[in-house]
Amino acid sequence: MATYNKQNPFLATIVERYPLSKSGSNKHTHHLSLDIRGSNLTYQVGDSIAVFPTHDPELVQRTLSAMHADGHEKVAEKHTGQLWPLREFLSTKANVTELSRKLISEFANRQTNTQKKEHLLYILQEGNKDALKEFQAGHELWDVLANNDEVRFIHQELCDLLMPLLPRFYSIASSMLSVGERVDLTVAHFQYLSHDVMRHGVCTHYLCHVAPLHSPQVPIYVHPHRGFTLPPDPNASLIMIGPGTGVAPYRGFMQERLSTQAPGRNWLFFGEWTRAHDYFYEDYWTSLEQSGKLRLDLAFSRDQEHKIYVQHRMLEHAQDFFRWLEEGAYVFVCGDAHRMAKDVDATLHHIIQQQAKTDEQGAKDYVKRLKVEKRYLRDVY
Ligand SMILES: Cc1cc2nc3c(=O)[nH]c(=O)nc-3n(C[C@H](O)[C@H](O)[C@H](O)COP(=O)(O)OP(=O)(O)OC[C@H]3O[C@@H](n4cnc5c(N)ncnc54)[C@H](O)[C@@H]3O)c2cc1C
Ligand SMILES: NC(=O)c1ccc[n+]([C@@H]2O[C@H](COP(=O)([O-])OP(=O)(O)OC[C@H]3O[C@@H](n4cnc5c(N)ncnc54)[C@H](OP(=O)(O)O)[C@@H]3O)[C@@H](O)[C@H]2O)c1
Repeated sequence: MATYNKQNPFLATIVERYPLSKSGSNKHTHHLSLDIRGSNLTYQVGDSIAVFPTHDPELVQRTLSAMHADGHEKVAEKHTGQLWPLREFLSTKANVTELSRKLISEFANRQTNTQKKEHLLYILQEGNKDALKEFQAGHELWDVLANNDEVRFIHQELCDLLMPLLPRFYSIASSMLSVGERVDLTVAHFQYLSHDVMRHGVCTHYLCHVAPLHSPQVPIYVHPHRGFTLPPDPNASLIMIGPGTGVAPYRGFMQERLSTQAPGRNWLFFGEWTRAHDYFYEDYWTSLEQSGKLRLDLAFSRDQEHKIYVQHRMLEHAQDFFRWLEEGAYVFVCGDAHRMAKDVDATLHHIIQQQAKTDEQGAKDYVKRLKVEKRYLRDVY
């Protein structure tokens, strides 16, 4: 049987896909279930799946039109020299939504229209990083080509300037003990309006809209966790903090704990925009809570004027939280790295300082010990 990995991904089949955000929500988070029968792939809870996306055919067609190409032209992949029809190359090999500084500077060099050239040179200046970032976030290859129609590239030259289309990672939201040869995912579809055009994240758009159902077409491989998994002791207590898609691995954790009848206590902190629209897997969490298997604290940030986040719930229960820590609980944090994970980390320090009646250094030392004992585990992105 073939071994499936990054070099040789398995073609999984999406057998289930539905929105977790209810109609009326401004979030577009989906639940997906992938069939991996015949792959021999196995995974542990806490692992992720890497997915190789394909661009939306409409986006590829827009790009081809802006290149004045029909898609049948042959181009070589820069690193391997392998030849591809241009349409296929743009669909699966090149990132046509992300513009490198090098590509923009190539447009600037070749631009003959003085005004357009000056604008491109302006955003490329050292001191104008924010303008460059804004330009990159608001444009894709097709609109830069269309807006700079004076510039000509040989197709191969342009393809050599594009960044490769890399796989994206998704936390596995299931346990094999519960779902068998399936992989469940929780995917937040990225979308944003720029210059009156709706743009999408490549892989989330692929998974949520482009990839067909019931057809073995989604190239995947397993990306093992680095410690972010259930502790070996089934009696250990878990504190799971995961707003948004950060909740995904905990669905796997709980499926596994139920399948193995692990007696340890479980406490989930989940947060999203509104209870009415964005309470992902509501039935599952409430049934676990009702059967006494889960302690549940929820933070819906947009159900009131002021923000309520998971860390506010942690603070409200600081005494219990610290008691669980003292009794040996494991703390897991999953989801947004930029703001949430930092704020949750600060709150953890704050709770320890307050409850242990120690100073800043004392709290730092406590957290350091948690990390050494592998009881403070994070999977943030
Ligand atoms: C270990 C790990 C686990 C993960 N697990 C999950 C998971 O379970 N679920 C999940 O959904 N994701 C998860 N992710 C994130 C995931 O890998 C992707 O990064 C994410 O889905 C976006 O991929 P994309 O291809 O759709 O977006 P891309 O095509 O990569 O686009 C994202 C880009 O869009 C731009 N952008 C986004 N919003 C805006 C805006 N409003 N205005 C302007 N520009 C904008 C940003 O610059 C960003 O670089 C995980 C990541 C890691 C590393
Ligand atoms: N552009 C898009 O279309 C798009 C779509 C999905 C995800 N994303 C990005 O992808 C990442 C993960 O997204 P996600 O869907 O899992 O959810 P998320 O954006 O992380 O949001 C989940 C919850 O966390 C809250 N939150 C915001 N800042 C926080 C903080 N500092 N501490 C604690 N909670 C905080 C959010 O509240 P508030 O939002 O009300 O502040 C929301 O209630 C984020 O970086 C997000 O920006 C972008």
